[in-house]
Amino acid sequence: MSGNGEGRCCDLCFGKCCRFIITSGFAALFLWLALRTSKPTCSIQEFYVPILNKTDHSTITRNNHSIFFDLKLDNEMKEKGVHYDNISLTFFYGPNTSLPIANYTVPGFYQGHGKKARQKLVVEAHGLPWEAAFNNVSNGPMSIFRVGLSTKVRFRIVVWYTKRRNLVVGANVEVNESGKKVIKKGIKLKSGSPECGCRLGLSLFSIVLVALL
Ligand SMILES: *[C@@H]1O[C@H](CO)[C@@H](O)[C@H](O)[C@H]1NC(C)=O
Ligand SMILES: *[C@@H]1O[C@H](CO)[C@@H](O)[C@H](O)[C@H]1NC(C)=O
Ligand SMILES: *[C@@H]1O[C@H](CO)[C@@H](O)[C@H](O)[C@H]1NC(C)=O
Ligand SMILES: *[C@@H]1O[C@H](CO)[C@@H](O)[C@H](O)[C@H]1NC(C)=O
Ligand SMILES: *[C@@H]1O[C@H](CO)[C@@H](O)[C@H](O)[C@H]1NC(C)=O
Ligand SMILES: *[C@@H]1O[C@H](CO)[C@@H](O)[C@H](O)[C@H]1NC(C)=O
Ligand SMILES: *[C@@H]1O[C@H](CO)[C@@H](O)[C@H](O)[C@H]1NC(C)=O
Repeated sequence: MSGNGEGRCCDLCFGKCCRFIITSGFAALFLWLALRTSKPTCSIQEFYVPILNKTDHSTITRNNHSIFFDLKLDNEMKEKGVHYDNISLTFFYGPNTSLPIANYTVPGFYQGHGKKARQKLVVEAHGLPWEAAFNNVSNGPMSIFRVGLSTKVRFRIVVWYTKRRNLVVGANVEVNESGKKVIKKGIKLKSGSPECGCRLGLSLFSIVLVALL
């Protein structure tokens, strides 16, 4: 009965195939787990515009166009470091980007795994309609500022660096008549476009698929 022999051969072949698929599946899974990266979390911990502090009547403050700003960068990955290129911060008056008022560059740096970094800065604002902003906090509930952050990050896995990836995030900050941000908690800077952290997983999946075919 040749049919039986053929069947057994096929079973054998199928078994090998199965094992191969399972093994490469696990290999891909482990590789994906080992190489998986997540972008650092950026948040605004402090935002203070002294000129908008209604109770501060000193002429020094009334003529001071500074914005105090505390940025927190949080690398939540337990085994991977992050290298930031120069971080460019842009400040706008209003809820959109139509009125830029200040720029600031944080020099690039390396951040180890699980580390947090704080940047306490003072920026000088230009072209802000101060009177309107002051009126807004005195009469209206608040003035809105927009903060944008853009940089490129590379992840360090053991001793290798990944390719550079864009990190472009932003948030609106509401400031009231105390000159401080209304929300007491940190304000997370978010990406406008949906993130695709699945790209690496997808490419690994394609490699496995190609290997199988
Ligand atoms: C606002 O100004 C007052 C008077 O100078 C000062 O006591 C207060 O601490 C300032 N507010 C903030 C949030 O710094
Ligand atoms: C505004 O005030 C801050 C702190 O009080 C100071 O560091 C900054 O130099 C002042 N800016 C100007 C233009 O006076
Ligand atoms: C990073 O910023 C510094 C000044 O803060 C500048 O000298 C340097 O050229 C910048 N590097 C890049 C790659 O843009
Ligand atoms: C930005 O916001 C201001 C109000 O704060 C509005 O007048 C302006 O039209 C907005 N611009 C855009 C491009 O949305
Ligand atoms: C911010 O930087 C950009 C480009 O470097 C420049 O065109 C713009 O005038 C700057 N804005 C302020 C408010 O300094
Ligand atoms: C000023 O206040 C009004 C509401 O009172 C608000 O709609 C507007 O966005 C505020 N403008 C800015 C630039 O914060
Ligand atoms: C302004 O915001 C600060 C910080 O959240 C808060 O402590 C203060 O009570 C607010 N002031 C007013 C007048 O709403």
